[in-house]
Amino acid sequence: MILKYSCIDMASDYCPCYLAETGDCVICSILRGQNNCDCRWQGICIFQEFLWNGKKKASSRKMIKAEIVDKKIFTDNLFIFTLKLPKDVHTIYFSQAGTYVFVKSQNSPDFYEVPLCVMDFDEENNLLIFAVQLLGPKTKALFKENKNIVLRGPYYNGIFGLKYIKSSFNRNCLLIGRGIGQASLILVAKSLKRGYNKILAVLNPGSLSYNIAKEILFKEGVSVKEVNDECYEEIILKDNYDLIYSAGADFQHNFIYDVIKRNNLKAELAISNNAQICCGEGVCGSCAVNLNGEKIRLCKMQLEGKKILEEGLL
Ligand SMILES: Cc1cc2nc3c(=O)[nH]c(=O)nc-3n(C[C@H](O)[C@H](O)[C@H](O)COP(=O)(O)OP(=O)(O)OC[C@H]3O[C@@H](n4cnc5c(N)ncnc54)[C@H](O)[C@@H]3O)c2cc1C
Ligand code: FES
Repeated sequence: MILKYSCIDMASDYCPCYLAETGDCVICSILRGQNNCDCRWQGICIFQEFLWNGKKKASSRKMIKAEIVDKKIFTDNLFIFTLKLPKDVHTIYFSQAGTYVFVKSQNSPDFYEVPLCVMDFDEENNLLIFAVQLLGPKTKALFKENKNIVLRGPYYNGIFGLKYIKSSFNRNCLLIGRGIGQASLILVAKSLKRGYNKILAVLNPGSLSYNIAKEILFKEGVSVKEVNDECYEEIILKDNYDLIYSAGADFQHNFIYDVIKRNNLKAELAISNNAQICCGEGVCGSCAVNLNGEKIRLCKMQLEGKKILEEGLL
């Protein structure tokens, strides 16, 4: 079998995970009970790691209690809050492009947890910043909390096509963020800046009527263009982009992919992960989709943006 994906947690502090214990590891066929090994060596033998760990999973993500040190209400459906992490938890683990966490107010039951992108971080003061669009019961409960938040994470599969973001060097990159999707743009921009890439960020407020990423991107020295309609085709065709990152709804991802295909563009595509994510561990099944007869869990599997859209998985 040639793997069409990789596991986001493979070889991390969290590998082997719960799925090794239940016989459902997405990479290791031996752990899934088959006789032959067919992972084609992914840089780690998860089976061996599992044995070395006493047939137990590695560490679990912790529930972290963090203090709200700032909360700004922007419109009737948007607020941004800043969390101070405890001393033994460091922002560096939450700073990769695509990082998200589950948060809930301190007294809410666990099923109030909501997945949120880490919008930005302040390493010196150990702060994490989040933007929230108020929609339903979970985000409304979060809005009412002013003191402490319980956070579970970090999780890293908030973006498909991460390899293009992480490996880009000295390239021409276009970031398109619409509405609350802009929350994932800043860590992407910071990652691309480390690779000396040229970046244009196109911001569309969507239903938020406010461009949440604008100020921080400016501070980071990223060129920003604000738009109010989906004039993306014109923008994409104006320059030769090596990489496009689409952060927003699925229709935006599909529209941009269509522009790339119709115009035979060389641009690689990374997209925000808009799946229904509840546990983030590959266990609950809420994010499962069918890829050519195989059940794929979108919280664990790192796929290419184009592949996801070609297969109609989002
Ligand atoms: C990786 C990831 C990162 C996200 N980052 C942010 C962010 O930074 N800021 C932000 O405001 N929102 C973010 N979201 C979306 C946010 O999780 C949902 O808007 C929120 O869970 C809605 O909950 P609710 O109870 O307020 O509304 P509901 O009434 O339950 O739902 C409103 C809408 O949100 C969707 N939704 C509900 N629960 C989930 C879920 N568990 N996973 C995905 N979608 C869900 C529903 O399909 C529906 O379209 C992110 C989602 C994912 C998967
Ligand atoms: S969110 Fe639970 S399996 Fe993916």
